[in-house]
Amino acid sequence: MASTVVTGIGELVTCDGSTPDLLGVRTDAAVVVEDGYAAWLGPASKAPAADHRVDVGGRAVLPGFVDSHAHLVFAGDRGEEFAARMAGARYDGGGIGVSVAATRAASDEELRSLLTARIAEMRAQGTTTVEVKSGYGLTVQDEARALRVASELTDETTFLGAHVVPPEYTGDRAAYVELVTGPMLEAARPHARWVDVFCEPHSAHAFTEDEARAVLTAGRDAGLELRVHGNQLGHGPGVQLAVELGAASVDHCTYLSEADVDALASAADTTVATLLPGVEFSTRSPYPDAAALLRAGVSLALATDCNPGTCYSSSMPFVIALSVREMGLTPGQAVYAATAGSAKSLRRTDIGRIAVGARADLTVLDAPSHVHLSYRAGVPIARALDL
Ligand code: NIG
Ligand code: FE
Repeated sequence: MASTVVTGIGELVTCDGSTPDLLGVRTDAAVVVEDGYAAWLGPASKAPAADHRVDVGGRAVLPGFVDSHAHLVFAGDRGEEFAARMAGARYDGGGIGVSVAATRAASDEELRSLLTARIAEMRAQGTTTVEVKSGYGLTVQDEARALRVASELTDETTFLGAHVVPPEYTGDRAAYVELVTGPMLEAARPHARWVDVFCEPHSAHAFTEDEARAVLTAGRDAGLELRVHGNQLGHGPGVQLAVELGAASVDHCTYLSEADVDALASAADTTVATLLPGVEFSTRSPYPDAAALLRAGVSLALATDCNPGTCYSSSMPFVIALSVREMGLTPGQAVYAATAGSAKSLRRTDIGRIAVGARADLTVLDAPSHVHLSYRAGVPIARALDL
């Protein structure tokens, strides 16, 4: 099979943990890629012959960003809701119903083409793996359809039937939880790796601790792995529940108590805290202190949460820049969290780092250093390298 040697790399950020800052930066390195995997990595002067050569002209090369939290299967638009929030309205999850109605009304072909375009938009900004959730169908057929379409384009598919209680069940929440944990889960299971729940006592639309526990344990019994939306709108049980059940990730973590931080730190091998600063940006919420979480020993990931409500941005560079400016991470810590950290939250070791035997999902910057991702905020310098 054909091999390609990538040369002219100004700075190779491996994220392999081999240096104290974990970034494993190498200068003067080359990488040989074969069939999508890194087959050799070492000093450019020692690079073996390959069928093709790509010279990146002194640019920085990083592991492709791993966007471990996104809701990309939706139709419709909620720009007016965003504008109202910027004028002072609060987010409570109520707008999700608008996207549910538009998504149910869309054809399979429309959803497929919207999803394809969104994933291409991400790739053009350096993202090479994306997790995609259902959650705007909320019927057995519409949830299964969202996951079927998503699984055509990514391996990381997440069943989020427990996103909100849909309007037709507001009078009987228990019946909706039974639907989610029964027939809906059954229909979703063939197309999903993960199960997720919006556990949030501060929203009448989302799920209580007991409801969330029922959803997660049913999903686990059906063979799915666990993720949780928790502690987004206020203090709540999401983080503790995720740790108790051994979820791979608890996402948002906007409002954390000391006990939550302690729980996350002691579960750092199992449960990653995935921060979504695009949501704080788009909902005018306070940013969590990511630097303090790292100091406490918490495993961190960064993701976009790209969705039509709380953050309609597909940009991992934007998220990296926000985490540096607003959450106290160094530029290097942010890059690590957006690559190796998010890979860990997906329980993947073949992505999020550049190493022999791992996937060669490479992202190149029109810049000499990873620092430029936050230094040159808003400038489109990152793109996935097509080999
Ligand atoms: O992760 N919090 C719940 N779900 C999404 C928002 C979905 C929406 O508003 O459409 C989130 O923020
Ligand atoms: Fe989300």
